[in-house]
Amino acid sequence: MDGAAPSEAGAPAAASTAIVFVKDHDSEGVIRQCLSDLAVVATEFKKGGILEAIADLATRPSPHLLIVDISGIDDPVGPIRELANVCDPTTGVVVIGQSNDIRLYRDLKAVGVVEYFFKPLVRALVMRSCNGILTGSTAQPSSRTGKLIFVVGARGGAGATTVAVACCWHLAEIKKRRVCLLDLDLQFGDAALQLNASPSHALIEALEHPDRVDDLFLDRATARIGERLGVLASLETLDQSFVPDEPAVLLVLEQLLKRSRYVFVDVPLISVPHLMQALHLPSTILLVSSGSLVSARDVGRLRKKLGANSAERIVIHVLNERGAAESLSEAEFARAAGTPPDIIIQYSRKIAVASRLGVQGLQDCPELQSALLPLYQQLSGEEDAPPRWRLRDLFR
Ligand SMILES: Nc1ncnc2c1ncn2[C@@H]1O[C@H](COP(=O)(O)OP(=O)(O)OP(=O)(O)O)[C@@H](O)[C@H]1O
Ligand SMILES: [Mg+2]
Repeated sequence: MDGAAPSEAGAPAAASTAIVFVKDHDSEGVIRQCLSDLAVVATEFKKGGILEAIADLATRPSPHLLIVDISGIDDPVGPIRELANVCDPTTGVVVIGQSNDIRLYRDLKAVGVVEYFFKPLVRALVMRSCNGILTGSTAQPSSRTGKLIFVVGARGGAGATTVAVACCWHLAEIKKRRVCLLDLDLQFGDAALQLNASPSHALIEALEHPDRVDDLFLDRATARIGERLGVLASLETLDQSFVPDEPAVLLVLEQLLKRSRYVFVDVPLISVPHLMQALHLPSTILLVSSGSLVSARDVGRLRKKLGANSAERIVIHVLNERGAAESLSEAEFARAAGTPPDIIIQYSRKIAVASRLGVQGLQDCPELQSALLPLYQQLSGEEDAPPRWRLRDLFR
């Protein structure tokens, strides 16, 4: 169906359907014609290329179709990766440029670009790609999936859920990314409560019948908080124990990662040994501990169990409630845990009081927000170096 307009049923939603960052008039003319032939109404044209796209999309919802110009950029693969950091995985990205280079084409495809066209643009080809993205008939490259973040509390009550919901809220509300929070504590989890959302039975159904999990199922099962944050949580009875089955968790994660830029998983400590395959997926693992000796010891044991950091998987230790009664000194804690923490949050009555208002209260709590800022920056891709190095520098 080369160049045919999308059918009514397949037509994309009106808001922010397509955004085009283009540098020259000729290409702009071709793209305008294509989108007009495809009857795409909500289109925005912007002057500029990939760098302008990164800056712009970091602050607002991602479109369904994004066309970016890489002309004049020496090594565009890095910036395209950066673009993936600020864009939803569901956005179909078409890149245009000047060079007719098969290596560049392969590199761009490998980082999740749907298609690359060099100038002068051929209308029928651009139109076919755009049509495929807008009607959903072109499958998104598998490399375009969300970031996975596990949050594990080293000891109950260490503040894991507080850290998880604060990060989710920041990325969704401030960074405007699409975020999903999955609470795997099916009986005692309070992630939904902290977000003022209602748990449902859909999550247990998903984990018991993962083959039934599709977009429609997830739409119904997810409690929405604002425009971009969703939470999947249950509050099952205490009649029997519900330990999530790992293959089911992996299948649900696969579906969620296709839909959201960030998928946070609140993992109860007791489930860690049952989810080792999941915990070895490319991801960030946030270990949240208190300052106590048992918590320090558990951080060391968890780090050992999780293994060394790699290019694809990094463990970040958040020491929470520093200075609370029975906390170790910094040196004692580092000795007991094996390494110093990456992020430190002080014990503060203000945090405890603010948390009674749920995550909205915590957003206005500078004690928590300033401590979590380096973590927010790292998760949103604004900070490349792991916080460990900066903190170590400070310790030196
Ligand atoms: N830095 C802090 N200062 C004071 N109170 C805090 C701090 N961090 C968290 N809290 C409080 O500690 C309590 C436990 O926090 P949270 O529920 O996040 O822990 P958790 O690790 O998820 O617990 P669980 O093991 O039950 O899942 C909450 O009431 C929260 O408000
Ligand atoms: Mg919790």
